[in-house]
Amino acid sequence: MHWPLWDRAVRTIHWYLPLAIAFMWWSGEKGLYQWHSWVGYSLIVAVATRIFWGFIGSQTARFSTFLVGPSAVVAYLKGGQFLGAGHNPLGGWATVVLLLVVLLQGLSGLFVSDDVMFEGPLTFWGGDWSGLFAQWHEFNWMVLQVLMLIHLLAVGYHQWYRKESLIGAMLWGKTERRFGPSKPKNTSLALAVALIIVGLLFLLVTLAPQAPSYY
Ligand code: HEM
Ligand code: HEM
Repeated sequence: MHWPLWDRAVRTIHWYLPLAIAFMWWSGEKGLYQWHSWVGYSLIVAVATRIFWGFIGSQTARFSTFLVGPSAVVAYLKGGQFLGAGHNPLGGWATVVLLLVVLLQGLSGLFVSDDVMFEGPLTFWGGDWSGLFAQWHEFNWMVLQVLMLIHLLAVGYHQWYRKESLIGAMLWGKTERRFGPSKPKNTSLALAVALIIVGLLFLLVTLAPQAPSYY
């Protein structure tokens, strides 16, 4: 039996990232902060769900499967062969870094105001640090852009130079040569996790005290 290499939850969350991040870029530049914050919440939920899925999800989605020690990463970088199914030793760490940087971008946004019309829901708690959060939101965005570029170059290298069918597997779950080692976990479990996170974020955003108005 050829199981999927990437389950539905991993794939759905993955393809949502470039779509939503492109929207965040556009809406951030255009100053459409109401839309920016809604889609930003959805990104926080998507990434937080993926992080939980890294503990309870399908075998290839789990951090314990693909996070390996520094010596394994160095051996891989020195040209060692990777014969496993999912992320290679370097790709595993890249996954965690990308997820964390997107999460930090979303979380810092909650504390930011545009100084004119829009206030993030947690600006009151941000207090005197609010300017720092804004700088972080801006700096982290540059970090994220660099990481996304490296990600695309790395994927392109494996896909076209080394002729591994990475993109097909991330699109369809598996390809003829790349498939999973075991039956994937049920997608409804990931959906339940996402719903719980939606609930928690909703509570946080609605219960947080409003920043005092200066006008
Ligand atoms: C620009 C925003 C993007 C972000 C933030 C992003 C992030 C990620 C993350 C976090 C993973 C790990 C997947 C997981 O285990 O959950 C991943 C894997 C992957 N991404 Fe992206 N991605 C982006 C765009 C793209 C695009 C546009 C493509 C296609 C050209 C792509 C192709 C892939 C592939 C093929 C993998 C699987 C790599 C492997 O087989 O080990 N990504 N990406
Ligand atoms: C992963 C999610 C997010 C991404 C990729 C993102 C991206 C961006 C970008 C590219 C900008 C323009 C930066 C600049 O040119 O200064 C921006 C600004 C901003 N974002 Fe986000 N953002 C995210 C989440 C959020 C969230 C959740 C909120 C609030 C609920 C938020 C609130 C803001 C505000 C208020 C600004 C204007 C800041 C200023 O004028 O200094 N962002 N964001």
